[in-house]
Amino acid sequence: MRRFRAHLLEIPPYTSARDEFRGEATIYLDANENNLASWSVPYHRYPDPHHVELRGALSAHLGVPAEQLLCGAGSDELIDWLLRAICEPSKDSILTISPTYGVYATYARMHGVGVREVPLEEDFSLPVEGLLAAADEHTPIAFLCRPNNPTGTLWSADSVRRFMERFEGWVVLDEAYIEFSSEPQGWLPYRRDGTIILRTFSKAWGMAGWRVGYAIADPEVAALFYRTKLPYNLSLPAQQAAIKALKNWQEVQNSIRQIQAERQRVAESLLRLSIVEKVFPSEANFLLVRFRGAYEVYQALAERGIVVRYRGNLPQCAETLRITIGTPAENDALLRALEEMDKKRVKAFPLK
Ligand SMILES: Cc1ncc(COP(=O)(O)O)c(C=O)c1O
Repeated sequence: MRRFRAHLLEIPPYTSARDEFRGEATIYLDANENNLASWSVPYHRYPDPHHVELRGALSAHLGVPAEQLLCGAGSDELIDWLLRAICEPSKDSILTISPTYGVYATYARMHGVGVREVPLEEDFSLPVEGLLAAADEHTPIAFLCRPNNPTGTLWSADSVRRFMERFEGWVVLDEAYIEFSSEPQGWLPYRRDGTIILRTFSKAWGMAGWRVGYAIADPEVAALFYRTKLPYNLSLPAQQAAIKALKNWQEVQNSIRQIQAERQRVAESLLRLSIVEKVFPSEANFLLVRFRGAYEVYQALAERGIVVRYRGNLPQCAETLRITIGTPAENDALLRALEEMDKKRVKAFPLK
């Protein structure tokens, strides 16, 4: 059941100018660049399509061979590529849960691929039996986001394992938020054939504007990706920025610890407010919060220049807002604004 679309394997790969020559050259007249562009050096050159240096740096950071790494313009590019490489339009569907990160379903539909969404259990745990019941030979790939966006849930490793043991297709574990969780190694130590771990530099690494994501997958997945992706999917500055970021792991870790502490502080403060009904346990850098009147709270925050994400339109998320943990000062401003609203509400509707 773990297959790629057959026609992909037959297309001779597009080779770009920089693919064909290997070795050290002093004069490059192969890619129609402007060699007079002194104002743009070194960015007058096309970037490395194979991301050799970046994959090398990631390989050292993760302890994973470079042949098992794929780099994309954000993990969104990798999600899009996986859909196109694996699913037959009009025949296949992806298997996923609901609510979860919306890109899986949206881009599946864009490519004419169906979506089988299985609701999370009431406590937001993984619906293992429901997922397996929805799977068949037309669901070649499952997307599981752990910790899940927008619920913040880190499903038990046992439940993920139970699903993987019986699902015959590719399993994508989207670990965009894993660094904020109590299992920062994620699924890496347990990975086996057919598992594709997605990671991103956009969250813990603080580099959303650069658009760099990566996957850890079987060498055959990486090989097909490098044969069929857009040749220059990652700009040179983006590759350089990611390599530089990997050298700052210590600083990244410090910020993660601060965000985890702030997550706890914000959650505890929110629970003291009568407009807050529930703060869902989160292993990510955001909190899903059920308010009494979420949309009014959303609007009142926006009027004060504070933007959060209204999630009340998602299944099982009625009356919720998803709130990113910001700097301590930003979190204080949020809490002050909510406390003000809370006081006003208590005044208008005093509890007997
Ligand atoms: C679960 C999840 N996966 C992937 C992404 C996309 O990440 P990137 O910026 O690497 O495309 C996001 C962004 O919000 C996300 O929440």
